[in-house]
Amino acid sequence: MLTQKFRLGELTLNNRIVLPPMVSRLATDGGFVTGELLAHYHKRRGPGLVVVEATAISPEGKLAPLQLGAFLPQHQEGLRELAQTIQQNGTRAIVQIHHAGSHTDLEATGGRDLLSPSGIAVRQTPSRSLKEDEIYRLIHQYYIAAKRVLALGFAGIEIHAAHGYLIGQFLSPLTNKRSDSWGGSLEARAQFLKEILLRVRKLVGPDQILALRLGLEDWREGGLKIEEGLRVGKLALEWGVDLLDISFGLPGPWPQAPDEFSSLLHLSKKAKDAGLGPTIGVGEIRTAEQAQLALERGMADLVAVGRGMLADPAWARKALGQESGAINSCRLCTNCKVREGQCPAQMSCKKIGGD
Ligand SMILES: Cc1cc2nc3c(=O)[nH]c(=O)nc-3n(C[C@H](O)[C@H](O)[C@H](O)COP(=O)(O)O)c2cc1C
Ligand code: SF4
Repeated sequence: MLTQKFRLGELTLNNRIVLPPMVSRLATDGGFVTGELLAHYHKRRGPGLVVVEATAISPEGKLAPLQLGAFLPQHQEGLRELAQTIQQNGTRAIVQIHHAGSHTDLEATGGRDLLSPSGIAVRQTPSRSLKEDEIYRLIHQYYIAAKRVLALGFAGIEIHAAHGYLIGQFLSPLTNKRSDSWGGSLEARAQFLKEILLRVRKLVGPDQILALRLGLEDWREGGLKIEEGLRVGKLALEWGVDLLDISFGLPGPWPQAPDEFSSLLHLSKKAKDAGLGPTIGVGEIRTAEQAQLALERGMADLVAVGRGMLADPAWARKALGQESGAINSCRLCTNCKVREGQCPAQMSCKKIGGD
């Protein structure tokens, strides 16, 4: 099944493997594409779909100083080259656009105020509550960033609404305490997402897709419940989403997994069982056999392999039988050390810094 093509409307993916979005910290501090960043993606060629790492829609929305950006027209030149680099071998690429809200720090935002629905910090740095005109400005910034990206030959766009970043902060009752039309009921908390999706949908061409990385539940007491996440998923499909990239919401301790698959991958199964999809499932897939089994068991329609592909850039090609040799399996460190050149999977095969 891994090698099977997958159709999403008029878009055909060559196989069922996805490189999920992973901030590489290889952009410049202005958010521009670098040669190193292009090489990082070129080395990981082979998946049917690549979701390019979280790309900031505005400078104060950055989650890391060296994060990719789409908040200036000048960002387009490098992003166009990125689209060509990734897609030259038949892989299709979409770009994840992102705003961190209060889930960041002043180093990443360059000293700019952190913004959030209700001035509630996800980390330590205090944030400022958004005024209504600022909410509309942010919606417009998502729209403009999407417009810039979609004009460059990418196969679509992904909206980041997971992991406790800005859209997730609107969705969660822990971080959205607003008493106006943007807070309260689930529908009101989802209004920010709805406004973004309805606008961005209009930009998406017939051979492009609109994906949503959705945090299906918060992993914090009192946060977004799975029933609510499923409801948001259903609404998002009604608002024009073509593909649900399922993950968690506000971060916390990982729940116990019921079987050999991770609790994260099980969230995708829950979405599918609720009749939502197509989905991308992700979480601790390290071998081709695990990925194949996940598809056979109906955990997801497409399987994403994140750290596995950081550990072994040839992961997809090896799993698809296009390249020989055993996969250098990711050790699932809690704190990924690929960037620091200390990835044990790469050290064991003497390829330090080789990603
Ligand atoms: C270094 C690193 C950077 C990440 N950056 C992003 C990101 O930009 N956007 C996102 O939605 N998830 C991000 N993630 C989460 C991954 O997309 C993926 O969901 C997660 O690593 C679980 O998959 P895995 O067990 O296969 O690694 C990141 C993960 C890692 C390890
Ligand atoms: S540093 Fe650890 S988590 Fe990251 S790819 Fe290497 S083994 Fe996996």
